[in-house]
Amino acid sequence: MDRSEKSSRINAINQWYDRRMFTPRNAAHGGFQNYGYWDGSTGSWKEACENLMEHLLAFLPEKRGTILDVACGKGATTRYLLNFYKPENVAAGINISLKQLKSLRGECLRVHLRSNGRRRTGVQRWLV
Ligand SMILES: C[S@@+](CC[C@H](N)C(=O)[O-])C[C@H]1O[C@@H](n2cnc3c(N)ncnc32)[C@H](O)[C@@H]1O
Repeated sequence: MDRSEKSSRINAINQWYDRRMFTPRNAAHGGFQNYGYWDGSTGSWKEACENLMEHLLAFLPEKRGTILDVACGKGATTRYLLNFYKPENVAAGINISLKQLKSLRGECLRVHLRSNGRRRTGVQRWLV
């Protein structure tokens, strides 16, 4: 894949997600942007997203070491990790969209964009 094709794919991904993630509907879901985990007692989309976090984190019985939220979106999933991990152990959030990461300003120490042919965006450290 050449550079321009890669860049146009990145733009298409960002357009698709960014269009959905800066809406009142996304805010009503607590900033989560996933389908969540629904069961008979789930009352809202936000609750379903929190359920999904709980189910995934149950796979890690001991919450040790450092955890990385790849594809962190606007940080709802990363923030949820702070219920289980100390901020210094939630090392970084990574996302392809700089717009989403920029929305985290004030919540994390620094948003930075690295470009070395591949676009990589990340949050340096989370604040509580
Ligand atoms: C389904 S959303 C999940 C966001 C967040 N984790 C949540 O549950 O609210 C998927 C996220 O992946 C990001 N993404 C898509 N492709 C990516 C890639 N190649 N590298 C990093 N992030 C990517 C999108 O920008 C979007 O924020």
